[in-house]
Amino acid sequence: MQSNRKYYEFLAQEKETQKEKELFRELHLPQGIDFCSNDSLSLNKDFLPEIYRNLVHRGSIGSTGSRLIRGQSGPFEELENVFASFAGHEGSLYFSSGYAAALGVGSALFSPADQIFCDRLLHASLLDAVRLSGAGKNYFRHNNLEDLENKLKKRKKARHTWIVTESYFSMDGDSPDLAGLVKLAATYDCLLLLDEAHAIGAMGPLGRGLGAQVRPDVTVTIYPCGKALGLCGAFVGAHPLILEQLIQRARSFVFSTAPPLIIPLLLKEVVLALAKGLEERRRQLAENVRLFRSRIQSLADTRGSYGHIIPIIAGTAGRALKLSALLRSEGFDVRAIRPPTVPDELSRLRISLQSGHTDAELNDLEQALERSLSSAGP
Ligand SMILES: Cc1ncc(COP(=O)(O)O)c(C=O)c1O
Repeated sequence: MQSNRKYYEFLAQEKETQKEKELFRELHLPQGIDFCSNDSLSLNKDFLPEIYRNLVHRGSIGSTGSRLIRGQSGPFEELENVFASFAGHEGSLYFSSGYAAALGVGSALFSPADQIFCDRLLHASLLDAVRLSGAGKNYFRHNNLEDLENKLKKRKKARHTWIVTESYFSMDGDSPDLAGLVKLAATYDCLLLLDEAHAIGAMGPLGRGLGAQVRPDVTVTIYPCGKALGLCGAFVGAHPLILEQLIQRARSFVFSTAPPLIIPLLLKEVVLALAKGLEERRRQLAENVRLFRSRIQSLADTRGSYGHIIPIIAGTAGRALKLSALLRSEGFDVRAIRPPTVPDELSRLRISLQSGHTDAELNDLEQALERSLSSAGP
């Protein structure tokens, strides 16, 4: 017991240090109007509850095992086929989360003999995937193809060179020049990995993502389903040989229980609906983005962002927390984003717009934001 007690003292000290730096994280129950989730098409407001109520499934509820043992089933197979044809791939493989998909891709496709070029602001799941694979990790400046090219010119010899980036960045609400990236990859004989987390469903033709136009030139695309698709898990879209390699070697796929079957059944309905009927939600989302951005234009530093993710730069972590608390007290759920997710001086509020936000909600948030920014001080 002695060593447990000492360890708890150590953890309590760590907690105090985090609190002093205003970096301690807490779990908050949802409260106020949702301007922080990733449910950009508001599917959890009405669409998914209705499908869920009407879904008749008489088979097993749990998957009962990993996909390679007893967990393989019709709903997963069908889902992967439906998604592949929607997104424009020869096939796809479903993982239990975006994080698991990234680690799976890293464990199956990267090795210490490879060099990987990562956008400086890449999501932690992809950075962890590179780190765990033992491949050489190189950073290029955020969305800066010139910097990437300079670094590619000086790269170390490698079995394979990969460029890894996102189509729409989750904290900065901006995008790389994908056509330029594809050209660079061809010039320097690189493979490309693209994460479409915040674009799939919400952006691109029919919500197919921003990489839809360059799909055949991208080696591997990851599509997390916890954002606009409203659920969880992630597809990897790629050539069948790559998907086979993932089934052989992706550790997060091989050594993990497949999700309950309700998930692929619901997701299939979302993907089918995207292909036909969710156009109106995307149009409404674009309209909300246009309206809200025009209202806050002179109010806040949104760092060259566009689209439904709006960073409001607060400065320090403390000021970001204060702004978030002020907005919460006015009935708005807007969260502070602090280090290590973003650099300290770029701590921010992250406003995430949805198709289901009403004109009045957007207007009220704009006014609350104005009041909070002036009462939080510089
Ligand atoms: C760009 C990006 N990739 C991957 C993920 C991880 O996806 P998941 O939440 O399904 O693990 C996220 C989630 O925030 C993300 O923003």
